[in-house]
Amino acid sequence: MMAGTEFCGSIVIAVALVTLSLAVAEAGGPPVNYDEEKVPPYTLPDPLVMQDGTKVTSAEMWRTKRRPEILELFRTHVYGRSPAKPEALAFKVGDNEPKALGGKATRRQVTILFTGKDDGPKADLLLYLPNEAKKPGPAFLILNFQGNHAVHSDPAIRLSQNWHRDGKGVVKNKATEEARGAEASRFPLDRILARGYALATIYYGDIDPDFHDGFKNGVHPAFDMGKRQPHSWGAIAAWAWGLSRALDYLETDKDVDAKRVAVLGHSRLGKTALWAGAEDQRFAIVISNNSGAGGAALSKRFYGETVEVLNRNFPHWFCENFRKYSAKEADLPVDQHELVALSAPRPVYVASAVGDRWADPKGEFLSCLHADPVCRLLGTEGLPAKEMPGLDQPAMGAIGYHIRSGGHDLMAYDWDRYMDFADRHYGQR
Ligand code: GCU
Repeated sequence: MMAGTEFCGSIVIAVALVTLSLAVAEAGGPPVNYDEEKVPPYTLPDPLVMQDGTKVTSAEMWRTKRRPEILELFRTHVYGRSPAKPEALAFKVGDNEPKALGGKATRRQVTILFTGKDDGPKADLLLYLPNEAKKPGPAFLILNFQGNHAVHSDPAIRLSQNWHRDGKGVVKNKATEEARGAEASRFPLDRILARGYALATIYYGDIDPDFHDGFKNGVHPAFDMGKRQPHSWGAIAAWAWGLSRALDYLETDKDVDAKRVAVLGHSRLGKTALWAGAEDQRFAIVISNNSGAGGAALSKRFYGETVEVLNRNFPHWFCENFRKYSAKEADLPVDQHELVALSAPRPVYVASAVGDRWADPKGEFLSCLHADPVCRLLGTEGLPAKEMPGLDQPAMGAIGYHIRSGGHDLMAYDWDRYMDFADRHYGQR
């Protein structure tokens, strides 16, 4: 075990016992701390020590023993266990427009039939391929919050027929025209295409509507078959599983190099991207944008959103077992630096925003720092920073990290860094 409020490779034992004077996030709600001085001492599990105390001394040991052990712990205690790829999985390419966006892109809209049936759960994948780039080429795969039609004003993007929440937080049964293009600032398509990348996106509500209904809608009932366990998959695991099914499609698309698909997500969908990258090693690069608690931020560090707050406000995101750790983070057998480490040796990028204290930027940075020894053991560069970089000064190794000016959002600045990171890892194209 590693102890300390913070350390750089070696262990720093925290000695001070800190008296907590806490902010309360909501009336009667769990306490929330925003004061660095009031982060109490905590102990992190060492990603390079097996649960039985055996030290992990080789890449082979990591790959065959410790990585599977950590993955199982996350499945059992945090996100839940997802089903395998369905045998009946099917795809329907319903739109294939070679001259989309004024001729800049080829647009495809593909329905993913999760059970192979039209009347079963399904999701629309929207794909834009840069017409001027070599094919097959690399892609970014990302879930969106408001429907595929919200990522761009292109009138040909289909409206989702599923549960839908518009930008004002109003819940409707299906999407309406008013949200067309509403999330476009988070999807700078011109920049993405100009740099030779394809964009693939799915509306997360197609995979699983984001509210707690006892797992009766979305993909859960079709695969749970009425049997749920304390370790059964929650919504984050379902969204991540949907991303893997999208990758199954991309593997069949001759214009996409499925070996160069980066999975990316913002906020709750950043938590999802990290879990998708952990569960599915086909993703070439894993990117978490402002994912915070239950994502890149350390859980045992008492700052910003906590496990208790997550479980209280979003009981459907995680597996039932996770509730045992509300205000008992010390008992968690894992922490989120190990989630970051599960991406290794593949490149993984974590981004924070200075105004996003709720997501605990420092806790996100520390996750990267404490995942670094795993990268080093696996022979990659790890994180080229021992201290949190300055504002808008990205650190890029096999682990990338930046803290951006501004608040909780996915911005052009973030995308530019992710494309720099991908260029760096993919090399000449
Ligand atoms: C809330 C939640 C976060 C989450 C965010 C989002 O703020 O507390 O955990 O990341 O919503 O997904 O937008």
